[in-house]
Parts: sequence; structure tokens; C-alpha cells
Amino acid sequence: MPFLLSVGIGALVNGLTPYTQQVLVSLTSALEGKPGPGGNIVDPRMMALLYAVLAVVVILLSMASKLITTWSNERMLVTLRGLLHDRMLLLGPIFHGKVTGPQLVQIINNFSAGAQFTLREILAYPLTRGVGLVTAGVFLADNLAAFAGIPPFMRWVLLALVVIIPLIGWKLSGVVGRAFEQVRAEEAAFADELGNSTAQPLEVQLMRAHAQRSRSIAERLTSVMRAKLRATLRREAAQQFQGSMSTILTTVILIYAAFSFDASTPVGALLGLILMVPLVVGPIQELVTFFTGLSVNWPMIRPVGEIIDAKPEIEDAAAARDIAITQRSAELKNVIFGYPPAKTPIILNGVSHKFRADAITAIVGGSGSGKSSIMRLLVRLYDPQNGDVMLGGQPVAAYTLESLRRQVVTLSQFPLMLLGSLRKNFELVKADITDDEITAALRRVGVWDALVKIQGNPLEIPVTQAAGTGTLSGGQRRLVALARALVLNPAILLLDEPSTGVDVESTSRLVSVLKELARDVTIIMVEHDVDFVTAVADEVVCIENGGFVATGSPQALLAQGGNLFARFVDARRRATSTEHLDIERVPLPDIAKSSPTPKLAPPMGGKM
Ligand SMILES: Nc1ncnc2c1ncn2[C@@H]1O[C@H](COP(=O)(O)OP(=O)(O)OP(=O)(O)O)[C@@H](O)[C@H]1O
Ligand SMILES: [Mg+2]
Repeated sequence: MPFLLSVGIGALVNGLTPYTQQVLVSLTSALEGKPGPGGNIVDPRMMALLYAVLAVVVILLSMASKLITTWSNERMLVTLRGLLHDRMLLLGPIFHGKVTGPQLVQIINNFSAGAQFTLREILAYPLTRGVGLVTAGVFLADNLAAFAGIPPFMRWVLLALVVIIPLIGWKLSGVVGRAFEQVRAEEAAFADELGNSTAQPLEVQLMRAHAQRSRSIAERLTSVMRAKLRATLRREAAQQFQGSMSTILTTVILIYAAFSFDASTPVGALLGLILMVPLVVGPIQELVTFFTGLSVNWPMIRPVGEIIDAKPEIEDAAAARDIAITQRSAELKNVIFGYPPAKTPIILNGVSHKFRADAITAIVGGSGSGKSSIMRLLVRLYDPQNGDVMLGGQPVAAYTLESLRRQVVTLSQFPLMLLGSLRKNFELVKADITDDEITAALRRVGVWDALVKIQGNPLEIPVTQAAGTGTLSGGQRRLVALARALVLNPAILLLDEPSTGVDVESTSRLVSVLKELARDVTIIMVEHDVDFVTAVADEVVCIENGGFVATGSPQALLAQGGNLFARFVDARRRATSTEHLDIERVPLPDIAKSSPTPKLAPPMGGKM
């Protein structure tokens, strides 16, 4: 609505301006006592009055047009930014692997303004400028007609200039566009480099990496500046060339008039020509400037358009339904998976396993063996190339993503934390969560007492995005994230390294919480701490070289020996045992002085 209003008023202003000038022309002719371009002698006083009225109307309308245009621009920008944010959140891991976080901030914050402006121009231009061009053209033809003897070559010269100059301008805009594409690439690289510094500034300080960061930023800034300078110089050259069009045409007309006019030629008509040339040339020139502007803005519009047009890589299948998981089973059937887009190397090579319902299964394997990848397949962040991922007896694709992710809840390896209060971080997953629910969840995972020590009302504890900053410790963050996962009452709970960074007391509490939870929740966890696994898991699945190599209860696997789990437990025992230490040479502590007694954490689960 504001957009249509602004376009309408813009068109009116552009249409009235040539008309006002034409009134001036008629007035001049009338004062000379000669007929004006229309062939009539008009009353000069009436014309003067009309001119004054029109001038005031144009000024008022221009003012209104500016205000309404600003209003409509802001509304469009707000809509566009909101749309970009919402769309971006729907896109999948391939997109987010390609366009980094800092670049997204740049696109949504800055590029959207350029895109909005150009979008507006594309929509409004033909209407607002078109009206002006047509009226000015008609009056120009009128004024030209007053010169009875104007030779045809003169008309051709004028026409050629009007056509050739924009064509050259068009060509130049291509060159300008390429230069601005380079600017965008440099700015994206700068945003990423800046992101490297802003992500964890304190880590940079501790690494004494100021100088390195400073150098990298300076290099990027220099590259941006060079590219910008190159592009701006090209744009200025192109604009200067287009700007000369009106002057060239006026000069041609003046020279012609100086050589061929006589006393019978009306001065008003000459004035009309001189006044109308910029009004005709203006819109044409603006058209060319518009194309140059489009090439300049295109590198910013393209990523904006890409986000709006991009199709989420994973979407609800046509037959997907909102299914309630009653039978809480999960199964992989001959799953073959490699990460898109290359889909190589193969991470899971024909993996099959039926996870036990209402039990705790731990997936154990070396770093990078594909444990987290299995978790990602279970919530359909990716689809496998081959085989089936089944939940509650149905393929994952049978569920709408909404119903799938409502019931299969993940505590990821690197949980998302929002900048804001602890409460806000719970509202992220449940908008209408009550303080009592949050408190109960935090008590359940055993982190409440520690949080109360930080702040009287733990729900107001400030949280930061990056681990290692803000008030919460690494282990506390993880427990809070686990509590947050629990408030969703999942049917299937996926835990990626739940015990990482959690102290011994909280870990043993975690064991009992998970054991109790597993009465009516299927828990699949990835875990490196074999003692924790031994204490908590009903079943262990070992993954190595893209396949499940051993399966069984922790006790059975240990008794069997030789398998991956037994090897891990053995390696852990050797790493933490004191057998290989030369005990005799370790000085005994002075017990009388050392208080309190340092506690040694016993390995969990004891010997098995
Ligand atoms: N988005 C991705 N694109 C391409 N390759 C990936 C991607 N994510 C992980 N990988 C690769 O897939 C393999 C398995 O990764 P995954 O995260 O599943 O390992 P993991 O077993 O969870 O390891 P860790 O114990 O270190 O967390 C790794 O070699 C990793 O390099
Ligand atoms: Mg992992």
C-alpha cells in the first residue's frame, strides 16, 4: 500500500514537472506576442498564475513523495530482513557449509538494504520515470515543430545521440558490475576474517595472537579497499560519460540555433527545446544509471535472492504425516552415507542395527569414526544415500520434520546457547515454559545448587553464545543443555557426549538420571568415557572403518575381550593406572600440613 502510494505520487510529480516547464515556454511566447508551441496566444497573467500554482503543487507532492517513499522503503526492508532470517533458518547443512555465519550477518544486515532499494527501483522505475519521459517527449516534439525548417539530418543526429550514448553506457555497466562482484568477494572474506577475531577474543589474547590477527585483518582491509577503489573509479568514469549526454545535446541544439535561426523563430520555442532536452535525456540517462546501479548492487542482491530462492535440502516428503511414536525403537538398515555434496568419502558403509527400545545404547568409536553422523541421520539432518533409517517402525521420511524433531530430541556435541538469560535459553525450545518447569529440569540433572551459588535466581543468569565465556562453566553449560532437552519429554533422546566436562559427582548423578529416564525413553548416546558407558549403558555398539564391528552389553564385550570396547577400556586402564610409575621415587605428601585431603576420583563403574 505505501509502495503503491509512493509510486503514484512519484509518477504525478514526474508528469507535472515537464508540464510546468511548458507553461513557462507558453508564457515567454505570449510575452513576445507570438503564438506558443500549441499555436495559440495565451494570457501571460493566467500563465504566470498557473505556473505558480503548479510549482507549489509539485513542491508539496515532491515532499509527500519523499516521506511516503521513506516509509515504504523501511517497511520493505523490515519485511525483507525478516524473510531472509526465517528462510535462512530453513536451509540445510550444504547451504550453511557454503555461506558462513559472519557472511549471513552481512547479507541480512547490510546487503538487504541494497537489494530492497534495487527491488523498489525495478518495480517503481517504469511507472514514475515513464510518465515523465512521455510528457517531456510530447512537449519536445511540440517545440521542435515550431522550427519549420529543421533539416532531417539534425533530427537523426539527435536520435543517434539519444540511442548510442545509453548503449555505450550499458556496455560500461557490465565492466562496473564485474568490479563490484570482486568487492563483494573481498568483503565476504573480510567478514569471515573478522568473525575469526570476534568469535573468541579472549582465546586470541591467551594465545598472544593479537599481532597475527591484526595482520590478517589489515591484509583483508587493504584488499577490500583496493577492490572498492578500482570499482568506484570505473563507476565514476561510466557515470561521467552518461552525465555528458544532456550537455552534448544542448550544445548541438545551441550551435544549430546560432547558425540557422532568424527573427521569425520564436524565442519561447528555443527555450522550450533547451528546457525539454534535460527532461527527455534525464529519464534515459536514469535508465542507464539504473542499469549501472543494478550491476553495482547485483553482487549484493544475488546472495539475498539465493537465500529467498534456495530450497531446503531436507523437506517433508509428500506423504509425510504427523506421527506419534508409540513404539520407541530406532533402526538402521544397511545405511550407506557420505556427506553431501560430494558424498565421499563414505562415512557409514552398510550399517545395520536395531537400537533397543527403552534402554540406553552407547555408540563407541574413535574420533571421526561417524558417531555424530549417526545422530544426524536419526533426526534427518541428512538422508543416507542408501538404506533406511527407521523410527518407531516407520522410515524417518514418513514423519513431518516437525513431528520427528518434537519426539526425537538431541543434545548435540556443541549445544546452541543464546545470548541472554538462562530462562531465554529454555524458552528457545518451549515458548510458554514456566519457571517451575525450568527449575525442576535443572534440579533433575543436579546442576541447580551450583547455579544458585552463582546467582540467587538462576533463571536470570546471563548466558553467552561461545563456551568458555560468560558465567556458566563448560560442564554447567552441558548440564543446562541436557535439562533443556529433558523438558521436551522426548520419546527418543540422542545424547552426543553428555558427560564431557561434567565433574565426578554430577556424572554419577547423570548415570542415575539417565537410568531412570530410560524406563520410558529410548536413549542413544555417543560417549568417549568408557567408565561412564560401562556404568550407564545397557548395550554398546562399536563403530570402526564405517561399520559396526561389535555389539553387546558392556559386561559381555569386556568378558569377550579383543573387541574395540574392550581395547578402549584396556587402554584407559593403562593410561590411568599407577603400575608403571616408579612409586618409590614419588615424594610422600606431608599429611599433617595438607588439608583438606586431595580426593582422587575413582574410575566409575569399578572393575568389570
Ligand atoms: N559437514 C560435514 N561435511 C563433510 N564431512 C564431514 C562433515 N561432518 C563430519 N564430517 C566427516 O565425517 C567423519 C565422521 O564425523 P563425525 O562427526 O560423525 O565423527 P565422530 O565419530 O562424531 O567424531 P568425534 O568423536 O570426534 O566427535 C569425519 O571424518 C568428519 O571429517
Ligand atoms: Mg562427534
